[in-house]
Amino acid sequence: MLMKTETAQPKGSQYPESTTPLEKSGLVQKSLVLGCGAYLPERIVTNDELATRIDTSDAWIRKRTGIRQRHIAADGELTSDLAVAACRPALLKAGIEPDEIDLIVLATSTPDNTFPATATRVQAQLGIKQAVAFDVQAVCSGFVYALSVADNMIRLGQVRTALVVGAEVFSRILDWEDRGTCVLFGDGAGAIVLRAGMSEAGASGRGVLSTHLFSDGSHYDSLYVDGGPGSTGKSGHLRMAGQEVYRHAVHNMTESIEIAIEANGLNLSDIDLLVPHQANIRIIESIGRKLGVDNNKVVVTVASQANTSAATIPLALTHAQNENRIQPGDLVALSALGGGFAWGSSLIRW
Ligand code: UT7
Repeated sequence: MLMKTETAQPKGSQYPESTTPLEKSGLVQKSLVLGCGAYLPERIVTNDELATRIDTSDAWIRKRTGIRQRHIAADGELTSDLAVAACRPALLKAGIEPDEIDLIVLATSTPDNTFPATATRVQAQLGIKQAVAFDVQAVCSGFVYALSVADNMIRLGQVRTALVVGAEVFSRILDWEDRGTCVLFGDGAGAIVLRAGMSEAGASGRGVLSTHLFSDGSHYDSLYVDGGPGSTGKSGHLRMAGQEVYRHAVHNMTESIEIAIEANGLNLSDIDLLVPHQANIRIIESIGRKLGVDNNKVVVTVASQANTSAATIPLALTHAQNENRIQPGDLVALSALGGGFAWGSSLIRW
């Protein structure tokens, strides 16, 4: 059954009719992006190195996926370590002290332990005392889900300043003998800082404009880990029906952006920067073509980072930020699909 959560208001109107004096002034509370940061483990594993261990080649991996290399965490380097290393530059960029953070939402499918939430370890390592910290598990779309949770809590006035993090050590859940999957993934982390602020109502005002989330559990077996810290009581590895995931990724990620654009009363031509989940260059290019978004407006990091699951979008946002590809007021469109299937999109007026 299709489960659908839309956090945006219906077409053309993002927020309910204004009633308070503040709302009558045309201003509403939104989640403003203050900055982002990222971290990639030091060790780089090239396609050629993989080809010495399994029956694959640099040519096959590049042609089918666009991937040249991936970063792999060092022994003992945990998801929380990557997350903390991404949060520090994000806080710096945002000009925020750790003790100003009152929410940490960490998207991961590779938590340090089954519990407690890896976000609480990030909280402790950053020396944050007063905050709510928890994990969100939606695999490759985890960052969009985490962003949705944080945005809603900010807009409701529950919290003021949030760290939204995607961090993964997928290298620990790969079957390194399965060439159909192990060549595709890497490790990494990215984070953005959101803060409540008054902003012009509607799609022209800065801030997170909308998040649209969807899941369809009938595809559970198309992309899953056959064990792990859970009710099966055994450790497991990632399994994927690649072509099935590919088809749904192209279709659902494209559609979720179209839905977001329509819900905000915008046009696809208004998109200044498209930041899709980075799984395969062919998927990314296909989505760009279907949406009619020029290549120079699409952020691509998959070649050097591979698929870091929930971390790809904040890593790509940080890459774009550091290359001065995002200007204040730009319309940034995010979209991802992963295991479940779970997918979604977000529009941010930067
Ligand atoms: O983040 C979650 C989202 N994940 C994704 O979006 C991944 C989506 N899927 C994909 O990106 C693609 O389906 C793959 C990259 C996983 C596979 O590409 P494909 O073009 O669908 O290849 P295929 O699975 O149809 O395999 C074609 C051939 C097969 O050989 P035969 O049966 O034609 O002889 C595979 O055994 O390529 C073979 N193959 C490989 N050969 C060399 C599969 N993996 C490899 C490999 N190296 N690493």
